[in-house]
Formats: sequence, structure tokens, C-alpha cells
Amino acid sequence: MKVLALIGSPRRGGNTELLVDQILRGCGSRGDGTEKLRLYDIGIEACIDCRRCKKGDFSCALMDGMQEVYPKLEEADLIVFGTPIYWYGPTGKMKLFIDRLRPYIASGKLRGKAGVVAAPSEEGPGCCGPLMEMFRMSFDYLGMEFAGSILARAYEKGEVGEDAEEMNRAYELGRSL
Ligand SMILES: Cc1cc2nc3c(=O)[nH]c(=O)nc-3n(C[C@H](O)[C@H](O)[C@H](O)COP(=O)(O)O)c2cc1C
Repeated sequence: MKVLALIGSPRRGGNTELLVDQILRGCGSRGDGTEKLRLYDIGIEACIDCRRCKKGDFSCALMDGMQEVYPKLEEADLIVFGTPIYWYGPTGKMKLFIDRLRPYIASGKLRGKAGVVAAPSEEGPGCCGPLMEMFRMSFDYLGMEFAGSILARAYEKGEVGEDAEEMNRAYELGRSL
């Protein structure tokens, strides 16, 4: 199985990345090939609703960093969406990324793939309802399967690394997928 993980936090080595790394370690323990992309290192323009991706080869008209990400998404069997909670939703960068998944509505190329969400926040799982609803409905719309989530309480950079229970849960999620 090929696993592609997207880090939607600006903090390198932050809580999102620590959780996602654990999920990937779990996947790796089964021999899966894993790759991690930091969205803040990639130029992602905002979708302009030009609707070019609804026709022809369903490709996106915007020539930016997403052009290198699209083939990786299409090759992956499992996609891990990692984002801290920002105002009860994803970070702006993760939202830019999600908006750019629009070509897959028409092409259907993400159908059947599994999606996992990893989201740390100061308040913890109780504040993640809106984010999880957005992901669940978006996965549904894309024909993807929701395969699990890790919603952890953590605020300071790297804090979740001291939470052995959450770190283990993330590893076990990856191992079980
Ligand atoms: C702009 C901004 C908005 C945030 N909004 C929330 C929020 O609505 N609820 C919450 O519990 N934490 C919120 N947080 C805290 C982060 O979710 C938390 O610090 C998280 O662990 C950061 O993950 P990271 O280390 O991967 O960046 C916010 C942080 C920032 C910078």
C-alpha cells in the first residue's frame, strides 16, 4: 500500500507532524511505502473556480506546486490529512489544498482511496466536530473512505510527543489500516 501524508501545519516538528509521523511509522511497520509533504513548503494558489477541471482531461489550469502533488495523490492508496485546528477548522493552507482537489470530482481519481485525519488542538477532541464533518462530507463527495482519525489535545510545539497514549494510538492506527 502507498501512503501519502500531508502536513498542514506551519510548525516543523509540531504536534501535527509528530502525530502524522507516528501514523506513518505504524504504516511502515507493515512494509507500506510512505511519503510526507509539508504543504507550507509548496506553492498552492487558491482555486479560482474556472471550471476547466470539469472538462477534457480534468486537469487544473493553475500551474503551481500542486502539479507535482496531483500524481502523488493519484498513486496513493491512503492519504493522511494532518492539520492543527485553527478556529475550529483546518489551517488556511490545508483549506487551499482541499479546494484544489476539485479536479477529482469529475475525474473520480480519488474514488476508493482511504483518508485519515490527524488534528491536534488546544481544546482537544470536543472542538473538532466542524473539522471532522468537513472531512467526512468531502471524503464522501470524492468517493473516498474515511479510515480513522487522531484528535489530540496539545498546544505547545511538540507537546503531543510527551503524551504516550496519543502517540501510541497514532502508531496503532497506522498499523491497523
Ligand atoms: C490561528 C490559530 C487558531 C487556533 N484555533 C484553535 C481553536 O479554534 N481551537 C483549539 O483548540 N486550538 C486552536 N489553536 C491551537 C492549535 O490548534 C494547537 O496549538 C496545535 O497543537 C498546533 O499544532 P501544530 O504544533 O501542529 O502547529 C489555534 C492556533 C492558532 C495559531
